[in-house]
Amino acid sequence: MLTSSKISGGINGNVNIPGDKSISHRSIIIPSISNGFTEIDNILLSEDVMNTMNAFRAMGVKIIKNNNKLLIEGKGLNSLTSPTSEINLGNSGTTARLLTGLLSSQNFNSILIGDISLSKRPMDRIIQPLEKVGASFKSNDSKLPLEIFGTKLRNINYDLALPSAQVKSGLMLASLNIEGTNKIIERNITRNHTEIMLESFGADIDIKKIENENHIYINGQKELYSKNIFVPSDLSSAAFFIVATLINKNSLLKIDGININPTRNGILKALNMMGAQIKVNNKRTINGELIADLEIKSSDLVGCELDEDIARLMIDEYPILSIAASFASSPSLFKGLGELKIKESNRLELIRNNLDKCGIFSEIEGENLFIDPTKKSKFKSNKIDTNFDHRIAMSFAIMGTRLGTDLNILNSEYIKTSFPKFVQNLNAVGGNLTE
Ligand code: S3P
Repeated sequence: MLTSSKISGGINGNVNIPGDKSISHRSIIIPSISNGFTEIDNILLSEDVMNTMNAFRAMGVKIIKNNNKLLIEGKGLNSLTSPTSEINLGNSGTTARLLTGLLSSQNFNSILIGDISLSKRPMDRIIQPLEKVGASFKSNDSKLPLEIFGTKLRNINYDLALPSAQVKSGLMLASLNIEGTNKIIERNITRNHTEIMLESFGADIDIKKIENENHIYINGQKELYSKNIFVPSDLSSAAFFIVATLINKNSLLKIDGININPTRNGILKALNMMGAQIKVNNKRTINGELIADLEIKSSDLVGCELDEDIARLMIDEYPILSIAASFASSPSLFKGLGELKIKESNRLELIRNNLDKCGIFSEIEGENLFIDPTKKSKFKSNKIDTNFDHRIAMSFAIMGTRLGTDLNILNSEYIKTSFPKFVQNLNAVGGNLTE
């Protein structure tokens, strides 16, 4: 359990944010099926990413860890070998969806398993489009454990209506091993880290932007070639520190080298609309990813209304955005959050229930979340239920820095899935967390 207490000064100084989780997963998956050595710098070595690493080790890939770097020896598109036992993905939904795609077009069978949370998450979103081209699975009612019967697939031609980077990426990874042209239409643009990395590894990929859609073409069975990777720092992890700085008086925080990829930076736009003082300095590109240094100051926030269009550009940030909205001077309305119900937990419900415990009024109507910090509501309990969800745990740890009553964050050990040094790093810039 983690206890978060009100801080005495502000949040001040410089903080190091670990490597981006989405890019870290892809930095293991793509080099493992390429030709040659890849050195990966600043990779996030959290539990989720370690699960991806162990999965590829189990399929015969040589991966050497050296401090904050990994060295991967890739031996080509069809070099993976059949795992001798089930592959345990722990809590990692990204690994589950991406590997389902990749493994469906291999020439061996495999079985994916996960923890309690992952075993409840829907896999039909990736199973169904793959079954259309001949993939074969056995699942527990479209959930893990998932048995994948690797086989030769027909060309993918799929119109993806769901705003999901995981499904898109799973289909792209399957396409790499399917001869001829595969096409994925992405109706709602989501994070494009897979596209960026595949392009830099020499994949035969072409992306046409047609109105608001992306038409992604991949010519499969073309070998990829290794390249060194520097993983930029994770905006989703930085968001906890950004909001802690904004809501606490006398705060000034600098965070360098953050990924601000336009398909990922919705949180900066949303906070900007709320009157946040965030300077984005020194923009530059590394390995095709846009990064910048951020300077954040305490701010008087106002509420805002966000449409569902922005949701796919910041889906992981609604828990922490809800904390920012709880200290604004006017209400906020966040629309189109259906996907939040099927993340590591039902985040929509947990945000509402935990805000209620903290004495902040909020309401869910369909897929929308309304937060009104101006409405009187009583503090009810300091026990924050996280349902094994790292982002809920970290968000309410930030709530505790400002609230005035200690918050006890239950099952906080799940923070390790994405940000092992969260407590240490927050305390180093003025946080008051005890484990
Ligand atoms: C991710 C995509 C998002 C996000 C997840 C990471 C990825 O999921 O919530 O944390 O790395 O592709 P969906 O694509 O399912 O929305």
